[in-house]
Amino acid sequence: MTQIPLIIDTDPGIDDAVALSFALFHPDVDLRLITTVAGNVSVSKTTANALKLVQYFDQDVPVARGCSEPLIKAFEDCADIHGESGMDGFDFGEIKKDALPIHAVEALRETILASEKKVTLMPIAALTNIALLFKMYPEVKENIAEIILMGGSLARGNTTTAAEFNIFTDPEAADIVFKAGIPLRMIGLDVTSTAVLMKEQIDQIKTLNRAGEMFGKLFSHYRGGSMKTGLKMHDVCAFAALVEPEIFTFQKTHVAIETGDGPANGMTVADLKMKYHQNTNASVALTVDVTRFREWFLETLARVK
Ligand code: BDR
Ligand code: CA
Repeated sequence: MTQIPLIIDTDPGIDDAVALSFALFHPDVDLRLITTVAGNVSVSKTTANALKLVQYFDQDVPVARGCSEPLIKAFEDCADIHGESGMDGFDFGEIKKDALPIHAVEALRETILASEKKVTLMPIAALTNIALLFKMYPEVKENIAEIILMGGSLARGNTTTAAEFNIFTDPEAADIVFKAGIPLRMIGLDVTSTAVLMKEQIDQIKTLNRAGEMFGKLFSHYRGGSMKTGLKMHDVCAFAALVEPEIFTFQKTHVAIETGDGPANGMTVADLKMKYHQNTNASVALTVDVTRFREWFLETLARVK
């Protein structure tokens, strides 16, 4: 199988850290670039965290620092879930390598246009960088195979009743991305919240290898769920959906982003019955097979060195 050229836009973030670790070692993907954005914590911290992970695994993937705040809205982080650093619980030591000397949007443009094969974009954070990219360099769209993202929800949100964190953080950016005309798969919170790891799996993870040991320490500081109810692996689901799509079911539909002020701000409004739209703009995950997700998680972790 030829590898999928992949770019991950991220805000590590403990579940982001797992998704990145998996992507660095998965044989089906060629991770070409990591771009960072303000989200779970500030962009300085998310960039430092991405660099720490790449260094920890002794990999060569470039990291480019992106936007420090949403397009229009004021920035609010989510350190209560991921800790002050965004990846509390493990000491990665001092960072030895810098981020690229160019902004994430420039790095995205260069990497996408230089690729001989269409690139897959995986945003697992607010869509600020991606929206700016499409506004500044719309020519990149032709060389993007797909956007596969973690964000939104077909049910309730986690930041407000209506909105999921990544979309709530920058709804205007999400609106631009969902209207971009690029094939888009949305792995939403209603599905990712069911992909939980229980104590039984966490005990196996901690002793499996060096990466598992690190995850175990991060998980002990992660407030996305609990050891009792299970830890939510939101962003890892987007990666699973890319490399193991049969674990999920999907439906094509139209998704609109609510950008108005008020309690629905940041909501992903899916027209599942297509009553109000002629054309679809997204394929949304409806279910994940949790047993198979857990098996896949452990198999994939075993590859992370
Ligand atoms: C999303 O928000 C962030 O806190 C997580 O990293 C994930 O991307 C879940 O709502
Ligand atoms: Ca994230």
